Amino acid sequence: MSGPRGWALVTGASSGIGRELARCAGADGYNLILSGRNTAALEDLAREIGAASGVNARPCPADLSQPGAAHDLWTRAQALADGPIHVLVNNAGLGSHGQFASTPAGDAREDEVIAVNITAATQLMRHAIEEMRPRGAGRILNVASAAAFMPGPNMAVYHASKAYFLSLSEAVASELSNTNITITALCPGATRTAFFERAQTGTTWLMKLAPMPTAQSVARTGWKGCMKGRRITVTGLDNKIFTFMPRLAPRALVSALTGWFLRRAG
Ligand SMILES: NC(=O)c1ccc[n+]([C@@H]2O[C@H](COP(=O)([O-])OP(=O)(O)OC[C@H]3O[C@@H](n4cnc5c(N)ncnc54)[C@H](OP(=O)(O)O)[C@@H]3O)[C@@H](O)[C@H]2O)c1
Repeated sequence: MSGPRGWALVTGASSGIGRELARCAGADGYNLILSGRNTAALEDLAREIGAASGVNARPCPADLSQPGAAHDLWTRAQALADGPIHVLVNNAGLGSHGQFASTPAGDAREDEVIAVNITAATQLMRHAIEEMRPRGAGRILNVASAAAFMPGPNMAVYHASKAYFLSLSEAVASELSNTNITITALCPGATRTAFFERAQTGTTWLMKLAPMPTAQSVARTGWKGCMKGRRITVTGLDNKIFTFMPRLAPRALVSALTGWFLRRAG
């Protein structure tokens, strides 16, 4: 059964920004495929959204760091949604902290960052566009970051992964500009979620000094941007300024300052 607005696939729906984006999509009348690794959290959320919004919400667990996981997720999502998928919320992501230069060559966490933030996200985008193209319509919300706008010493691979995602989003949005398929890159700054604890950042200067909005407020802004078909949505005035400044300053200065913000504060 197709909901009033169709189906949305949300990755990383088990916590943080993704969980709130799923709530926004449900409140807007979309049936939901909810993905993540934490099956119990997905089941709880599916029940909650189903009861609150009267839409179909179905868990579809996946570990997107595994080879082939994105293809498998898309196939299972298509089977669960007994109709086309109209919205892809490409949100699952993780970070890692520490100097790249002192990271062991066999570090698994940074490989996971690349597998989830870059490889799986790209593959899901390709699947979504392949399905949306014949209909000439659809929405993709890529959760990038304010980090996309600047190199990030102490979180180098994470910043680079988000720069990649922003660049990919903008380029493909341009390729599709004569269709009703829109691609929005959501670029939040530091947000109150489990992200930093999982990335083992400790308390950085960024966390000490930046106002940290809730996942709910970030998701609401991002969802609105996606529904309006905006190409880039940067959340909050502070982040709008923060992401504009690197255009004016020398690159080496931008790297040095960002690296300082990402240092542990004692
Ligand atoms: N928090 C911030 O300051 C911030 C700022 C800018 C951008 N972002 C971006 O926002 C997105 C959501 O992050 P968040 O802040 O909401 O953090 P979070 O609470 O840690 O949520 C991350 C989500 O990604 C999923 N995920 C992580 N690794 C996965 C894997 N291997 N396979 C499948 N799913 C996986 C997690 O699912 P499971 O736990 O079920 O595995 C979880 O649902 C990320 O792309 C992040 O880079 C965050």
